Amino acid sequence: MSKIKAAITSVGHFVPPKVLTNFDLEKLVDTNDEWIRTRTGISERRVAEGGGTSDLAVPAVQMLLKNRGIGAEEIDVIIFATVTPDMFFPATACVLQEKIGAKKAWGFDISAACSGFVYAISLGAQLIETGAYKKVLVVGADKMSSIMDYTDRNTAILFGDGAGAVLLEPSSDEKLGVLDHKLYSDGSGGQYLYMSGGGSLNPPTHETIDKKMHYLVQDGKAVFKVAVKGMADVSEEILQRNNLTGADVDWLIPHQANLRIIDATADRMGLDKSKVMINIGRYGNTTAATIPLALSEWWHEGKVKKGQNLVLASFGAGYTWGAVYVKWAY
Ligand code: COA
Repeated sequence: MSKIKAAITSVGHFVPPKVLTNFDLEKLVDTNDEWIRTRTGISERRVAEGGGTSDLAVPAVQMLLKNRGIGAEEIDVIIFATVTPDMFFPATACVLQEKIGAKKAWGFDISAACSGFVYAISLGAQLIETGAYKKVLVVGADKMSSIMDYTDRNTAILFGDGAGAVLLEPSSDEKLGVLDHKLYSDGSGGQYLYMSGGGSLNPPTHETIDKKMHYLVQDGKAVFKVAVKGMADVSEEILQRNNLTGADVDWLIPHQANLRIIDATADRMGLDKSKVMINIGRYGNTTAATIPLALSEWWHEGKVKKGQNLVLASFGAGYTWGAVYVKWAY
């Protein structure tokens, strides 16, 4: 019996034009370019000057639609991964639907922080595999500057704004497309990376503002330890499940949180650096956007080809982590 698989048939991305360099940050917090580059691999990041996360997603999706040669009205479903939704509700997927004119689509948001995109693409692929939908738009976008404390050197240096999107459609060949995914959560990690203010537990008050509870908080050291292991473990697991070795992988597309975490994952997979998509130096950690942003950049440079083996891997707040195996279909 033939089984439907989901192929990625188009990609798009967007970053806002304003650049915030390490040297700019030296003026805001007690840090320096050398420390940031050697500890994280980041030289600069982008920051949006207005609008919400949906406004980062719109140009990314427009690039994707143009590239595929279709209109937004053909989209069936929108899955929007973000931790910086325009508002708690309506869902940013609905905001985006209206802005791009995806009249017949339904959609929803996914909150899985830096793993938002791997969660979203795994779900999107399964919506295609059921045969129920033909065009699922999966977006990863975050305006991290909206929840950054630019007086906190532990976090302000790490994050940036950006968006990426992929289109999933039934694959014409069941051996091509999204072939496997493995996802994890561990809620015991919640205490190490969070934003406590603004939700039902701590609704906004003068006190929550004074206590800076509307900013991201991270215990970097604690997260680093589990992220290195979590991302490498799940990447190794996805290879083993599919009888692959590092030599079979054409591209690793890792979540871009810290270059040292990326290097450790590539080492564990036995991958040469030349097979790893790395753009953290230019954008920092754009949370749900890192993976589709890198994928779209590399694809537009002509480096991603039909039949290549891609592994997407992430680790983030929750904790959440996962990996996806894709055989490129077009
Ligand atoms: N500039 C200069 N010095 C800094 C600094 C900064 N921005 N931030 C911290 N330091 C100092 C610390 O105060 C510490 O000084 P001390 O030794 O005198 O106490 C020293 O640098 C080392 O700090 P430490 O926190 O141990 O650095 P680190 O090597 O762990 O790097 C992170 C910090 C945040 C870059 C790193 O822990 C990390 O990337 N964590 C995980 C991020 C992540 O993966 N997130 C998950 C997904 S979103």
